[in-house]
Amino acid sequence: MKNKVVIVGTGMVGMSYAYSMLNQGTCEELVLIDINKERALGEAIDLNHGLSFAPRKMKIYSGEYSDCKDAAIICITAGAIQVEGETRLDLLQKNTKIMKSIITEIKKSGFNGILLIASNPVDIMTYVAWKLSGYDKSKVIGSGTTLDSARLRYTLSERLDVNPKDINAYVMGEHGDSQFVAWSYALSGVQPIYQIASRKDSKISFEDLAQIEDEVKNIAYKIIECKNSTYYGIGMALTKITTAILENENSVLTVSSYLNGEYDNNDVYIAVPSIVNKDGVREVIHLPLEKNEKEKLDKSIAIMKENINTLNL
Ligand code: NAD
Ligand code: LAC
Repeated sequence: MKNKVVIVGTGMVGMSYAYSMLNQGTCEELVLIDINKERALGEAIDLNHGLSFAPRKMKIYSGEYSDCKDAAIICITAGAIQVEGETRLDLLQKNTKIMKSIITEIKKSGFNGILLIASNPVDIMTYVAWKLSGYDKSKVIGSGTTLDSARLRYTLSERLDVNPKDINAYVMGEHGDSQFVAWSYALSGVQPIYQIASRKDSKISFEDLAQIEDEVKNIAYKIIECKNSTYYGIGMALTKITTAILENENSVLTVSSYLNGEYDNNDVYIAVPSIVNKDGVREVIHLPLEKNEKEKLDKSIAIMKENINTLNL
């Protein structure tokens, strides 16, 4: 398998991801596919003009589904975006149609790598991609709450004045309105955040934690209100997942993974901490959650299943 990535959907998310990979030298070959061929062509030409400043040589071009055959990763970022007032789940029917047409083409190509999904509602789109492709469940991954966990790390780092890279805290569940923070496992460096919040002289209180959780959950709505869509954060989150796969990193990420008995659930994709490497999801980390956290995860999963049941797959 070549160190080759295909992006299907060269809109704001797809191109923020491509630009981030170009800057980080993530892969050797990058193919851009879009239903709007002109757009994909223009984006490829534009990106190539940055190559003199990039950390490595990269072959970048707009292509066809036949280019998927020897790719290591295909990332699907095609689909409708939310307009103000819409939730991610409101995109379900529209984006399922788009996903079906794309998966049909990918299957014809003989692709045998990792399928990474970003289109919303991402946990359900990942299920749709897995179900229709018939690929191994560990080789179909959604971006899940990788972005939300990064938002949480950033927000906590600001409040605690600690480098975001040293915040180990995770958003779990739906990449959407029913997500939650697994506070019982949240650390600032080596200190449990619950322990920090319980100190009298602390920078942060339990009320602050609840407010941060809410802010992280709703911040995408604020960005959409300000500039219609979100893309830089997800572009970098997708780059991180891609590096974890291509470099066989065994990184712990809250990607959307298939549950097969973990968390007492099955036949659903949902964001839980997972170990990601060249084989996709190597392992779903099954955390013993606190009762209230487990209830939130169960609720998120119930919402995913309810929505999946409305689809004709
Ligand atoms: P966009 O409108 O800028 O781009 C969408 C692209 O998809 C367009 O270029 C369009 O031509 C293409 N497209 C549509 N149908 C297609 C098809 N059948 N085949 C190939 N290409 C097709 O939208 P965007 O801002 O890039 O967002 C894309 C998706 O990513 C949305 O569903 C959005 O909600 C989602 N998103 C997910 C996350 C996340 O964390 N997972 C974050 C941000 C956005
Ligand atoms: C996000 C998109 C809208 O930025 O899913 O969270």
